[in-house]
Amino acid sequence: MTEPLFSEDEEFDRPRLAAHGPVRVRVPAKINLHLHVGPTRPDGYHELTTVYHAIGLYDEITARRGDTLTLTMEGEGTGELSLGEDNLVVRAVRALAAETGHDPHARLHLKKQIPIAAGLAGGSADAAAALVACDQLWGTGMSRDDLAVVAATLGSDIPFLVLGGTALGTGRGELVSPILTGGHTWHWVLAVAEEGLSTPVVYRAFDELGGRTNAGPPDGLMAALRQRDPEVLAGELANDLQAAALHLRPELQQVLDAGIEAGALAGLISGSGPTCVFLAEDGRHAALIAADLEERRCCRAVRTAVGPVPGARVL
Ligand code: C5P
Repeated sequence: MTEPLFSEDEEFDRPRLAAHGPVRVRVPAKINLHLHVGPTRPDGYHELTTVYHAIGLYDEITARRGDTLTLTMEGEGTGELSLGEDNLVVRAVRALAAETGHDPHARLHLKKQIPIAAGLAGGSADAAAALVACDQLWGTGMSRDDLAVVAATLGSDIPFLVLGGTALGTGRGELVSPILTGGHTWHWVLAVAEEGLSTPVVYRAFDELGGRTNAGPPDGLMAALRQRDPEVLAGELANDLQAAALHLRPELQQVLDAGIEAGALAGLISGSGPTCVFLAEDGRHAALIAADLEERRCCRAVRTAVGPVPGARVL
């Protein structure tokens, strides 16, 4: 008879044992399938109704025990991103420590594939990953809902990155509820621009342009998700920040046009941009669109990704 890998007691102890070794957490990027921007609130944020969608383009954080808090990184944004107290990962670790009474001690290493300042919530994703990693490392035993509460204090879209999947976001984006789409997979192509855009700057441009909204309530989008027909979904994608992003970067219109010429069913700016997202019929179609866009050399990088995928998870 083969021995079980873990006796029952060891099985019971596994989370604690795992927490003493390195903890690896993978976290996805997000796109907004629908982004309705409402009025400015007294706290300066805009009231949002958005449909978040987590896609299979990932960052990874490894957390180890340490006597202080340190952060190192490799990949996208290395040398550009501050690794100091203003980094969202560091802020997330300190917020979790304050919430749980734990010392904010960990050695963190971030492997970044999600482009920075791209409208893909890469920084928010890393903060979500840091919360999940340190929760496991320290054995705080917080629920995902508890983590989402801490996440909301750090940034509007961080609770979604803890949850993942497809979800409705309201409030300033921090109130998330899952949208069940019956396990269907959608295929996307991303065109990443040369230079990033700052989210506050895009919201300011939105206000200066008169705060005009084109995206109504996301009812049609919800129905399209349930119908699982990419042609139908294509007609429902909407982003109120698109005009502002195009105002700041008119050349993005050529990228959007190029994606449609390459055969995409629809194209839109992701979140506050500048990444352009294209919907494909299936994986093969996505690969064809990506190859076409790459040949046109109209952007810094082209990626394909599927969605929805889970949020920040321990590997
Ligand atoms: O919440 P987060 O820190 O990610 O937001 C970044 C910036 O984006 C805010 O400082 C604000 O300028 C803008 N924002 C907004 N309304 C929202 C979310 C973000 O105006 N609902």
